[in-house]
Amino acid sequence: MVKEMYNDINLDRIDINLEPPTEEPARQYYFMAKCREWVKDFEQKNGRSPKSCVINFGCQMNARDSEKLRGILRDVGYIESSEEKADFVIYNTCTVRENANTRIYGRLGQLKPRKKKNPHMMIGLCGCMMQEPEAVEKLKKSYSFIDLIFGTHNIYKFAELLAARFEAGRMVIDIWKDTDKIVENLPNERKYTFKSGVNIMFGCNNFCSYCIVPYVRGRERSRRPQAIIQEIRRLVADGVSEVMLLGQNVNSYGKTLDIPMSFAQLLKEIEKIEGLKRIRFMTSHPKDLSDELIKVMAESKKICRHLHLPIQSGSTRILEKMNRRYTKEQYLLLVEKLRAAVPDISLTTDIIVGFPGETEEDFKETLDVVRKVRYDSAFTFIYSKRTGTPAAVMEGQVPEEVVKDRFDRLLYEVQSIAGQMCAVHEGSVQEVLVESVSEQDPSMVTGRLSNNLLVHFPGSPELIGSYVDVTLKECKGFYYIGMK
Ligand code: SAH
Ligand code: SF4
Ligand code: F3S
Repeated sequence: MVKEMYNDINLDRIDINLEPPTEEPARQYYFMAKCREWVKDFEQKNGRSPKSCVINFGCQMNARDSEKLRGILRDVGYIESSEEKADFVIYNTCTVRENANTRIYGRLGQLKPRKKKNPHMMIGLCGCMMQEPEAVEKLKKSYSFIDLIFGTHNIYKFAELLAARFEAGRMVIDIWKDTDKIVENLPNERKYTFKSGVNIMFGCNNFCSYCIVPYVRGRERSRRPQAIIQEIRRLVADGVSEVMLLGQNVNSYGKTLDIPMSFAQLLKEIEKIEGLKRIRFMTSHPKDLSDELIKVMAESKKICRHLHLPIQSGSTRILEKMNRRYTKEQYLLLVEKLRAAVPDISLTTDIIVGFPGETEEDFKETLDVVRKVRYDSAFTFIYSKRTGTPAAVMEGQVPEEVVKDRFDRLLYEVQSIAGQMCAVHEGSVQEVLVESVSEQDPSMVTGRLSNNLLVHFPGSPELIGSYVDVTLKECKGFYYIGMK
């Protein structure tokens, strides 16, 4: 775990007897100082620091949000621990599919007896699921032992809300419907020393008909390019060499800025940052993937040879119902252009099976795209009905056993092609960024190729964070065994 050095604001020098400042982020630092007083009190009473654990259940943006919460908790004096030992457990929730919600209720049920035994224990809930009024109603009614509930738009206010909870001594709930605000320069605690996610935008304006994200994450807002560049510069000064630019649809970056800027232009600026070695980004929506971006990718020395390009369905008829705004043919053409410009690019995707009205013919179109594109890997999802989205009330919901059968057939196709794609690189020497000690074998380390595949090879932990040339000896389907 690493502390980002630019967040070294001395909380002890903030006078908490004054009124809180109104401007951000100063206001949050004031409340962090207040929370710190409470933590000191805890330490005196218990002879130890309080322990916290933030668990994220969602996508990379959700994970990055968790790092922000951890940064604030660290600065107010919490020590990170496992969930079992934590005095303060926070679930950063996801709601993209129904089973994400089910999981949260299940976990909360397990926490309840623990909280009964340890009344001082606190439980916090935040993230996308909290933006659904029905979910919050249910929590208020049936899970009244929860201490703090907040949403996606006011996550920057975490310190203020925590202080409010300490003061009130009972459940605090604060959910906003939307926001146009972006608060910069709050603390952060990165998971890795050498790589980091960087938000470039928030929200989504696409309203794909099955998707709940635009409702829970609000309207699209881009961070100012200067703020992004400055954050990356600081990260690089702090030892980071790989960044993952994050947004629901990075290809539409910059459209809402006062001085509009394209994603391709932003990438060109980021490329100039000295010391930065690798640039990744996600997610790319096919409808906004420009020729300019393909050109920048082709010319770049730092952008990784990997693109995640969700197709969702191969049937133009279904794509239209999904409101994706591209056809099967346009997607295939895009893939052709990408492969012509960046021949060694690795392509991955997301696919939904069982969207309302999907026929066997539609599904075969999806299989056809999978066979034509030959993805390096694909995330496959069973359609999940999300209340409030247009697809939830569409006719022709597909029976479960039909969906299951299609899902299995798709998975088989995706996995056999991915295995073949992986084997293509066998024998080659490639530069990898070493990320960790191998989970299966402590005498090995795990590195990531530019194309996002992993390789395990003999090596010691000192290699973590460095770039090493590795021979890809043997392809194991989804990863390699290699040799330095
Ligand atoms: N913004 C990204 C994806 C965000 S959600 C994009 O547009 O590509 C990640 C993936 O979850 C989506 O690509 C989609 O495949 C899947 N997904 C979203 N809503 C879903 C639903 N209701 N049921 C099943 N899968 C869904
Ligand atoms: Fe959801 Fe579509 Fe937005 Fe992705 S682009 S988050 S799938 S609405
Ligand atoms: Fe889930 Fe929210 Fe991400 S719904 S996928 S955590 S944007």
